[in-house]
Order: sequence, then C-alpha cells, then structure tokens
Amino acid sequence: MAASAALAVVEPYSSGLGGGGFWLLHRARDGLELMVDGRERAPLAARRGMYLDARGEPVPGASIDGALAAAIPGLPAALAHIAARYGRLPLTRSLAPAIRLAREGFPVDARYRRFARFRLAALRASPEAARIFLKDGEVPPEGWRLRQPALAATLERLARVGRDGFYAGPVAERLVAGVRAAGGIWTLEDLAAYRVAEREPLRGTWQGVRLTSAAPPSSGGVLLVEMLHMLERFDWDRLDAATRAHVLVEIMRRAYRDRARWLGDPDHVAMPLARLLSRAYAARLARGIRLDRATPSAALGPPPGTAAPGGTHTTHLSILDAEGNRVAATLTINYPFGSGFVPPGTGVLLNDEMDDFALKPGVPNVYGLIGAEANAIAPGRRPLSSMSPTFLDDGRRLAILGTPGGSRIITMVLHAILGFAEGADARGLVARARFHHQYLPDEVQHEPGAFTPAVAARLRALGHRLREVEPYGNMQAVVWDRRAGTVEAASDPRGIGAARVVAVPRRHVPAR
Ligand code: GLY
Repeated sequence: MAASAALAVVEPYSSGLGGGGFWLLHRARDGLELMVDGRERAPLAARRGMYLDARGEPVPGASIDGALAAAIPGLPAALAHIAARYGRLPLTRSLAPAIRLAREGFPVDARYRRFARFRLAALRASPEAARIFLKDGEVPPEGWRLRQPALAATLERLARVGRDGFYAGPVAERLVAGVRAAGGIWTLEDLAAYRVAEREPLRGTWQGVRLTSAAPPSSGGVLLVEMLHMLERFDWDRLDAATRAHVLVEIMRRAYRDRARWLGDPDHVAMPLARLLSRAYAARLARGIRLDRATPSAALGPPPGTAAPGGTHTTHLSILDAEGNRVAATLTINYPFGSGFVPPGTGVLLNDEMDDFALKPGVPNVYGLIGAEANAIAPGRRPLSSMSPTFLDDGRRLAILGTPGGSRIITMVLHAILGFAEGADARGLVARARFHHQYLPDEVQHEPGAFTPAVAARLRALGHRLREVEPYGNMQAVVWDRRAGTVEAASDPRGIGAARVVAVPRRHVPAR
C-alpha cells in the first residue's frame, strides 16, 4: 500500500488516487491467491453514445480530456480494502511516505517534462491542474519541485477515515462539485456506490511454468492463457527464430480479435470464458495458422476502422517479502496525466478510463483497440483493461512481474513468460526485446532490434507489415530461486526505476 500510494504521488502521469488498478496477491501463510479489482466504474449517468456527436461519430478528445472522460476512481477504495483485509499496517502508517512526498514535494525529471509536454493542452484546460503541474502555464524546468499539498490533505483524510474519507464527506463533495462544474456527470451516489471486487485469478501453463494472472475486467489473463494454448499446438522448440516470430504474431492477432469481440466487465456481461480458455478452442484457432503466410486480420472477420496507438501510461510494482508474500500491482489513470483534470481543492488528478470502453463498435480507442457490445458504456460498468499483473512458477523459480503499456501490456507479459521458460533472470525478463500485434491495426509493432534483418525479411516475405516503434513498456520483475535461496529484482532499462533486494535483519523474519 505504501508503494502504491507513493507511486500515485511521484508519477502523476501514470497512476493516482483519481485512477484504479489490479493487485494480484499471494499470501504465504495459506497460499491464498486473489486479484483485488480496484478498476474504475462508469458513472451511473453514463450512456452509450455519450462521446458521439449528432451524426454518431466520436467527438475528438471527449473521452480523453477533461471531467467528462473520468470514471469513478477505485484506487482509494482498494488501498483501504487491502490494508484492512490483508495488510499489517494501518493506512495511517502505510500512507505516511506518500503524504510526505506530496507535502514536501520532489524535483521533476525529464520523463515528467516529456509527459507534461505531451498533455500540455489538457493540463492547461484545467486551472487547478495547471496550477499544480505546470509553472506559469508551461512545462516546468527539470529540478522544479512539485508540491501537492491538497493531495497530501486528501491522502491524510483517507488514511485517517478510511474509504469514506474519499467516497463521502468533504472530499467527495469537492470531487463531485468540481467534475460537474466542468461538464462531468458524477454524483455523490456514484462515489458512495463504488465497490472493490475480489476476483479469482486466471491460470495457465507453458512448458512447466504455471501462470497466475489478471482476471476480467482485465483481458490479460484470458488472452495469455488463450495464446499459450495456441502455442502448445506448435513444436516450439524446433522452430527457427523467424517461424517463432511469425507464430507469435499469428496467435496475438487471434487472441486480440477475441478481446475485441467478447470481453468486458464480468459483473455486467456474459463472456464465453469456458470456451475461450479451452484447449479445444485454441486448437481450432491454431489450425488456421499457416506457416507459409500471414493471415490478414480482415480475413478473420469484419475490419472496423483502425488508428495508431498514441502515448500510453500506467505503472507497475512487484514485491516479494521475506515470508514469501507477493504482490504484483498494475495501476493506472490511463493516458499520461489521465484526463488532465483536477477538481478544485482535492489535489486529485482524474483518470480518463472511459476511453477504455468501446465508444462505438469498431471505433478504436487511444491504443487502437476496438471493442463491441461486451465493452460498451453502461452505468456502473468497468471498462475492459489490458493490465496484467502476473506470477510465474516453474516449481523451482518464481517470478512476480508486470508492466505499463496500454494494449501492448499483454504481449509484453507473453514475451516474459517465454523468457522465464527459457531460464531468463530478472534482468533478462525486463530487458527482452518486444514486438506486438493486436489484430487491428494489421501490423507488427516492434522495438528497434527486436528482429534480426534476416527474421524481419522473412516476416515481410510471409506478408507481415512491420512498423518500428519507440522502445516501450516499463516492466518490474522479482525472481526468487527457492532452491538456490536467491532473490533478484530488476527494473526495465527503458524506464527510470530501480529495483532493490533488501536484506531483512533476522529478527524481522518470522519463524515458519
Ligand atoms: N488504461 C489501460 C488499461 O487499463 O488497459
């Protein structure tokens, strides 16, 4: 809880009290595993079509910028829920570092400046956000101290009062008043009605590695299991590098098509999960994969409009404690700096998670993802997510991992699973080169150097369209080798994080 809350303060472009997340938990004492779902929910007044104009076309930016783009936050409720049910420290202690960071501030860095520049217009449109995150309406210089006293006060109230410190009383009143004054539709009832959910994680296997990952409303676990089942149909160890890349692209394409078609909020829509997670279904999909040519996505189904994904943001933490308790948590306010909107007097930067809904069947969101009925906007519904906090276990070694990265999160975790099965260490997992396909747009997005020239040439010859993109993701991984008794941790070299293994004084390690 301390790390989640601290990230909410120091990475305002990635996560925050105004957002949500998924916490995958493992309790060493009894092996309990569950996912705490603190995903945002659509306000009760939300309606499909709310971001469309009179002609039924999406109003540019309406689901991304400003108060109307914000769904009801889940992060504060999840902090209170996890602390009360699974934590050892009261929120007054675990939120103390975040409160101090908010009050005393910290110097902003190049990364902060890059995201602030990217979201400058949205931040300027909210006077309160501009006052907090900009300097005289401009991106602040490197080293400028970001102080967030109003956020510190809101965190203090949450710590002291618990969930009602955010979802009722003066903070709730200010949130609702600020949102409504800026054209949003929140009510006090929306905040009072917000509930955290506990979900059974999704499980699968690959070459002796047991996977535990996020359940719906994340699409992560479902797609990972589906992709691994498809992979099982190939003689993986005998494939050359180009054929492996081709097969991976083809299984990604098919799994993301199912994401678009079937997945949504498990509390609101019926999903054919038993079928999607069955080996028989994966075998049928895999039979359609040809090793001598790419399958155009259009050949798999109707091709709605496409768009290139924009910038993405979200954050992740992976923790293993001295007793073997584990947390993998992926937290978000969606786009960098979320909606860019702060309700006056709260210090809370709101998410723009409403854009994770399918605004209209086939219309892509900021990540280029399309969706359908299962992920349509409805009052109180949770938008479909890609966040995939994950545990891997091969009997000897255990990994805790996850990453930000919008629609590419799931395929980044897939690459990490393959790496773990090959014996990669924590650094190898987070550094592994990445490529991605998401059904639409029909292209292979890849990092520089992800393919050798020979593999790239072969992929093109098979009919794949390759698009080189900037290095992406920010994976955090912990690997515990139980047999060797070693723990290593690594933070993605693409990010600014650092990972630490801290020696715990013996007296702090409880007897087993
Ligand atoms: N907001 C990105 C996701 O949840 O997938």
